[in-house]
Amino acid sequence: MMDDRTALAWLIAMGADEAVLDDPVDRFRAPPPAAAAASAPAPARRDSAPAAIAPPQASRPAELSAREIALRCTTLDELRAAVMAFDGCTLKATATNTVFADGTPAGRVMFIGEAPGADEDRLGKPFVGVSGQLLDRMLAHIGLERARNFYITNTVFWRPPGNRLPTASETAICLPFVERHIELVDPLVLCFLGAAAAKALTGRSEGITRLRGRWMEWRSERLGRAIPAIATFHPAYLLRQPIAKREAWRDLVALKVKLIELGAASATG
Ligand code: URA
Repeated sequence: MMDDRTALAWLIAMGADEAVLDDPVDRFRAPPPAAAAASAPAPARRDSAPAAIAPPQASRPAELSAREIALRCTTLDELRAAVMAFDGCTLKATATNTVFADGTPAGRVMFIGEAPGADEDRLGKPFVGVSGQLLDRMLAHIGLERARNFYITNTVFWRPPGNRLPTASETAICLPFVERHIELVDPLVLCFLGAAAAKALTGRSEGITRLRGRWMEWRSERLGRAIPAIATFHPAYLLRQPIAKREAWRDLVALKVKLIELGAASATG
C-alpha cells in the first residue's frame, strides 16, 4: 500500500496538476456493490478529480475505428469534432483538453510536433509553452506567423501523463486522424518537428540527426500529388542544446527556399 506522500508524487508524475474537489477521492477503495451497480457513467474529466489511468486496450480495433472515422470526415471542422469525440486513445483519460491544431490551414506550411505538454493541455492549443514560443520566434525570421501563414498540430492529440513520450500504440491510434488532417489541410510543404513526428509520418527508423534537413515526400492514396516534407529538431531539444540551432536554422532556410521555388513566398517576406 502506498503512503500518501508516495501516492501524491505518483499522481503528479502522471500529469495531475490541480485538485478540483474539496476532499480527496480514494480511487483505490472498491465501491460498495450497490453503489457500483447504480453508478452512472463517469463524469466528464474536466469536472472530476484526476482520472485513474485506464487499463491498456487492444490497439488494433481502436486504430481501425480511427481510420474509418477519419476517412468519413470531409472538412477540418468535421475532423476536429471527430477527434474530440474519439475515446479510443487512453491518453484522453488523463488529459484536460484535446489539442487539435492552431494557425492558418490556408497558410501552405503545416508543422507536426510530438505531443501536447502541460501548457498545451491547459489551453487546448499546440506549441503555446516555452518551446512553442521559441518556434514562433524562429519561424518569424523566415516570414512565417501562425495568424497569417502556417498551421501546426501534433502526432497525438492528448498530453501523455508526466510528459512522457507517446507509446507506439498511442501514436498508431492517432495516426489515421493525423494523416486525414494532412489530406484536408493539403499543405504545399510539411515540416516534422523532432524524431517522433518524423518517424511516425515517414515510417523510417533513423534518428532525427539523420532524418533532418533532407527533403522527403509524403504521399497518400487520396491526394493526387506528393507533398515535400522536411524534418528538423524539436524546439524543446533546441532549448536543451542551443548549439543545434545552427542546423535547425539551415533547415528553416531550406524550407523558405522551397516555398520560394513553389511560388508561395517572396525572398524578402
Ligand atoms: N511539444 C510538442 O511536440 N507539441 C506541443 O504542442 C508542445 C510541445
